[in-house]
Amino acid sequence: MPAVHRGNFSNRQTQFSARRQKIMQQRKSLPIASVEKRLVEEVRKNDVLIIVGETGSGKTTQIPQFLFDAGFCRDGRVIGITQPRRVAAVTVAKRVAEECGVELGQKVGYSVRFDDTTCGSTRIKYMTDGLLLREALLDPYLSKYSVIIVDEAHERTVHTDVLMGLLKKVQLARSSSVGDGQGLNFGKKNLKKVMMSEKENDQSGRFHKMPRHEKYAPLKLIIMSASLDARAFSEYFGGAKAVHIQGRQFPVDIFYTRIAETDYLDASLITIFQIHLEEGPGDILVFLTGQEEIESVERLINEKLPQLPQENKKLLIVPIFAALPSEQQMRVFAPAPSGFRKVILATNIAETSVTIPGIKYVIDPGFVKARSYDPGKGMESLIIVPTSKSQALQRSGRAGREGPGKCFRLYPEKEFEKLEDSTMPEIMRCNLSNVILQLKALGVDDILGFDFIEKPSRAAIIKSLEELFLLGALTDECLLSDPVGHQMARLPLDPIYSKALILASEFNCLEEMLITVALLSVESIFYSPRDKLEEARTATKCFSSPEGDHITLINVYRASNDFLEKRSMEMGIAKTEKVFRKWCKDNYINSRSLRHARDIHKQIKGHVEQMGLNLSSCGDDMLQFRRCLAASFFLNAAVKQPEGTYRALASGQVVQIHPSSVLFRKKPECVIFNELVQTNNKIKFVVVPLNRWPDTGNDNAPNAMLASENNNGWGVYDGFSIALRNKLETSCSPEKMNVAVGD
Ligand code: CDP
Ligand code: MG
Repeated sequence: MPAVHRGNFSNRQTQFSARRQKIMQQRKSLPIASVEKRLVEEVRKNDVLIIVGETGSGKTTQIPQFLFDAGFCRDGRVIGITQPRRVAAVTVAKRVAEECGVELGQKVGYSVRFDDTTCGSTRIKYMTDGLLLREALLDPYLSKYSVIIVDEAHERTVHTDVLMGLLKKVQLARSSSVGDGQGLNFGKKNLKKVMMSEKENDQSGRFHKMPRHEKYAPLKLIIMSASLDARAFSEYFGGAKAVHIQGRQFPVDIFYTRIAETDYLDASLITIFQIHLEEGPGDILVFLTGQEEIESVERLINEKLPQLPQENKKLLIVPIFAALPSEQQMRVFAPAPSGFRKVILATNIAETSVTIPGIKYVIDPGFVKARSYDPGKGMESLIIVPTSKSQALQRSGRAGREGPGKCFRLYPEKEFEKLEDSTMPEIMRCNLSNVILQLKALGVDDILGFDFIEKPSRAAIIKSLEELFLLGALTDECLLSDPVGHQMARLPLDPIYSKALILASEFNCLEEMLITVALLSVESIFYSPRDKLEEARTATKCFSSPEGDHITLINVYRASNDFLEKRSMEMGIAKTEKVFRKWCKDNYINSRSLRHARDIHKQIKGHVEQMGLNLSSCGDDMLQFRRCLAASFFLNAAVKQPEGTYRALASGQVVQIHPSSVLFRKKPECVIFNELVQTNNKIKFVVVPLNRWPDTGNDNAPNAMLASENNNGWGVYDGFSIALRNKLETSCSPEKMNVAVGD
């Protein structure tokens, strides 16, 4: 009936224009709106500009639009904005597309690892810093960009740091490319020489493999930061101009606990309910360290909620963390239904990367999950550590954006004084193999001479070079090897995983390795609530394999595949989602993690297909797959010691098998692992009882472990290989062949 149609349509249209009007108003009221002209002027005048502004002042969402309107994309070029976190890139792009009144993926889009929504007509492109580094592999001059904005630079992620060094070179190259015909060359150095040479300064500063005699329009660089101290950035860019944007901040009352809390999750829970029952309206933001904690607090709140009186039940819980499916990420920005209080459970992404409206209360347990690396042992782990003072201040600031607020720090005041002033840049505390591989692929051969804003320790650089060398990614000359090194650099994965996929193609078990790598890339797919450990254990028993955790993971994945295939045939894809969540719940599987892993699987599969790797499956021949695991992860081998602990061969570190591993009780002679939990030195994922190999009469099996080593005659490696070989020979000797694991 036309009348009804018309009625509905105009109703929707009114809603739509009301929303647009509200957005226009919000944009106009942002602190940054009044300085648009001045900012654009500064960008025109300065090739590098540092913009410092308080979180929520409108930097990320507005500046790209200002520049677009000022004609910076006129010749069809693009404004690129990098974010350290994918959630920020995705949610901000969605918001800006809405502000511009365009469909996401057209004029405004985002591109993050495993998810690209841009097209040829995209002009404002949000992306992760890691992704822009990858783009530079294909287009070393980043020629399609007129402006690159490095956002959240204060976070100092390893990718941001490397990106700044690269952009500095690219900018120089583009401005001098007009007519000088020089091209760029970073110069080559042999690792041996590099290691011996004390001189770390290679002044050549030029790219390798750059097209010559090409003309490129100059590139504008903007470095944006929420920390007020712009000096380091300004100095790094040769005294670049810094502008400060006035923020708007209301007073925030800070509360501390009287005594230290033993369980900050429990303390968070109590504080949430205390605020909800005793304080006035306003949303609550809780900072937790990761998906597991967030999901556990979410569940605890939902369990407690029914016990509250009817009038107090109106709490809406919304989580936000990186692995959340992107359609669910936007939920944090939507206002709670009338009468409801929103409780946002966030990782430190909500510190500065995303600004969520409506927050009046902040709960800060004072912890963050951070990478930590010990170059001596070559071991990287994720650990939960206290925040820095500046992080604590950023967190409390979230409560005072729209009016006076309150922040509850779940630790005593004297603890605050003990916190570090600011967080150490990630590049100083992570394994560098990944970035080194990428720099090498970009033609930066002299890693020690690279112009880092803060140089990682020599030991850490050399350790990572060693690792790449052992994986076969580098030649004796310390150049990217062909084809392995080049193939590894193409895959958006940790080098050790990239190598595993390349090897799996040779071992005819690429299908299985794809599943493994995808599952190892997400937080645990097993869901074991503290109060239901026994039930969870019983439920997951059917997947458990005596051959180790990797194979157990494959069993879960295959079972989920079978389930999905069967059900989507019976009931169609749309209805399958619900029953799939139920299947996960019944089996104590985390459906979000499994979904995320399935997405990643699909994406990496696309990459390896493009690379022409051999996509075959070993079916039920798990021995073949275990061989491949051992060959791939030989750097993570550990052998049992007489007293029952393990010794990691590459590092000498004493480790233990994690209680969640299927091999916890079996304790095979030799294992390989993929994750270390630093707190108690336990290995989380363990696999491959190597002493089974002799069963098959295949004497070559232990050699598979050594196959990836490069015999280059260097002391460091020799020490390692000989030690590894000796240990393997003794631990895999035929006398032990009857100690079959699983008996
Ligand atoms: O980058 P900065 O912290 O300076 O601010 P922003 O991210 O550009 O945010 C500016 C405003 O946009 C804030 O008031 C947010 O509340 C709003 N915003 C939003 O409503 N939804 C988003 N997805 C992102 C931002
Ligand atoms: Mg921002």
